Amino acid sequence: MRKIAVIAATLLLLPVLLAGCGSSAVKEENTDKADTKELITVGFSQLGAESDWRNTNTQSMQEALGTGNGFNLIYKNGQQKQANQITAVRMFIQQGVDYIVLAPATEEGWESVLTEARDADIPVILVDRRVDVADKSLYSCWVGSDFELESKKMTAWLKAFTERRNISPENLHIVNIQGSLGSTAQIGRTRGLANAARENGWDLLAEVSGDFTENKGREVMGALLKGHDNINVVYCENDNMAIGAIDALESAGKRVGQNIMNGEVMVVSFDGVNEQSREYCREGKISCIAECNPLHGPRVEALIEALENGETPEKFNYVDEGLFSCVDAVKNVVVDDTEYTVQEP
Ligand code: AHR
Repeated sequence: MRKIAVIAATLLLLPVLLAGCGSSAVKEENTDKADTKELITVGFSQLGAESDWRNTNTQSMQEALGTGNGFNLIYKNGQQKQANQITAVRMFIQQGVDYIVLAPATEEGWESVLTEARDADIPVILVDRRVDVADKSLYSCWVGSDFELESKKMTAWLKAFTERRNISPENLHIVNIQGSLGSTAQIGRTRGLANAARENGWDLLAEVSGDFTENKGREVMGALLKGHDNINVVYCENDNMAIGAIDALESAGKRVGQNIMNGEVMVVSFDGVNEQSREYCREGKISCIAECNPLHGPRVEALIEALENGETPEKFNYVDEGLFSCVDAVKNVVVDDTEYTVQEP
């Protein structure tokens, strides 16, 4: 029955789609209720477009929640500002959407607007990052990565690498170029490194935010080099910042690689989405990448399907992720009794 409705609604939408030829079939705003009443209307508040990971995630969501799959997607880009996302969610509530999908920039400050969504009986699905609210019934479910686990895999790799090369823990002088402060990805990845540094006796020199962007990664790395002359490991909380940091290191005359007891600086990072970072990983400029999977569109589609069928999906839905490296020294790592084989990017 829904399939027939979808086909009928798609035919109705055909002139609109053809008129928009050459541009995305997903409109920033779609208030044309008459054309879309048979589709499931989803308001998606994406936090921004700060990284390649984010752009791939947006594309995945737009493809899965397109008209061909039975959805009328209203997409809003929050430009990395929580205030814009709150405005978008309020607009979705006013429009009476069927579902709100929220990729929150930061964890705090969502109680009021999520209470408004609940009062309006609109289910909220969180994607990628989380919100820090006492009342978990303010959202239906979440799907995304275990960011602290990603960090545990990365630091297990670093520990194994240094042990295989007989590098003592106190000889690791690490800086952390963090993601956007207060985001789930930053909190998990920063915590994972801080814990590992304390447990292993590594020298964690500094933690500075690079906001998940290449430009800020470059800028922050330049400033860190001025403040510290012994940095030999750069832990970047995403690949875009790693690309910027490598540029800053090379511009300052540093060699990037694994020979850290002989002047080279080791760069490690997260994501594994962007082709340049994967190429850097194959070349050894990035020594290890902990995968962060952005393809959440079909996962959110399945969650909506379950809710439509009256089911109660799992509250927290984690995505399986791996570890990429071309450095021979480490073939696998074990974290929390699970073994992860190191793969080629
Ligand atoms: O929340 C996921 C993180 O956000 C990705 O690692 C990063 O690239 C993005 O901006």
